[in-house]
Amino acid sequence: MKLITTIAALRLELGRCRKRGRRIGFVPTMGFLHEGHLSLVCQARKDNDVVVVSIFVNPIQFGPREDFKTYPRDLKRDMGLLRGFADFVFAPSARELYPEGFCTFVEVRGLSDEYCGRIRPGHFTGVATVVTKLLNIVAPDAAYFGQKDAQQAAVIRRMVEDLNVPADIKVMPTVRESDGLAMSSRNTYLSSKERQEAVVLFQALKSAEHAVDTGLRDAQKIRGMLEDFIAHTPSARIDYIEIVDKKTFERVKTVGRDALLLLAVYIGKTRLIDNVLLKAR
Ligand code: PAJ
Repeated sequence: MKLITTIAALRLELGRCRKRGRRIGFVPTMGFLHEGHLSLVCQARKDNDVVVVSIFVNPIQFGPREDFKTYPRDLKRDMGLLRGFADFVFAPSARELYPEGFCTFVEVRGLSDEYCGRIRPGHFTGVATVVTKLLNIVAPDAAYFGQKDAQQAAVIRRMVEDLNVPADIKVMPTVRESDGLAMSSRNTYLSSKERQEAVVLFQALKSAEHAVDTGLRDAQKIRGMLEDFIAHTPSARIDYIEIVDKKTFERVKTVGRDALLLLAVYIGKTRLIDNVLLKAR
């Protein structure tokens, strides 16, 4: 496994692989890896000959009052976790990706403005821009993303389609802790009491799934039920609960076959997101 920090060096290495007909899989991350990230890397390993993992805490996707400075970072630990799975770890500096004079951004309109985009203006433009750059640098056959960040995955799929990026986008299931909490680098911000209470997101998703299984279809009623459910947890404050079409991300009034329930909840000061596909039978 090689650690690479410059675009030129990575292009040189991958150019050689491509010449030998190797299939390249790519997993973009911001590091502080957990099993959620590693599930993407494992899938990339299965599907490809060469696996590239990027580790880059992308400054332009953080708002001015967000956690860019305090976002957890530990390259040494990440390298240890990737050994045996990744062939190349690309960990560029911010200067390498955003040299002086950088002024081009990728904006996925509409899809980026709602839900997480509403509370985090500019966030998805930052994500779409860095992912476009990384896909141009790595030029993978396939790139792997997590369903945990459902809106991000949808923004990336749209961007790749709209800009004719020749990479196959694969979205993998959410990996959870044993109590159901979706794994996230930001879970490290939770106190032990908050960590216990954070399971409310998963329990809320499960109760919505159950309600749909037993015949409830009205999105407004499901949202109301979840608001009541989450209100019982003292440290929890709802940012949004939305039920949207899986593909278009437009709100739906009635749960059909392809409805996605999106949750964003503050546990203390930490904002956590999760989602589940609701399947009306
Ligand atoms: P990061 O939060 O590090 O996540 C990297 C990838 O891992 C994303 O595709 C994310 O959806 C996926 N992931 C995170 N938690 C997961 C879980 N519990 N189960 C499955 N997959 C999970 O998302 C980003 O970084 C950045 O926005 C990035 C795409 C790298 C652009 O900067």
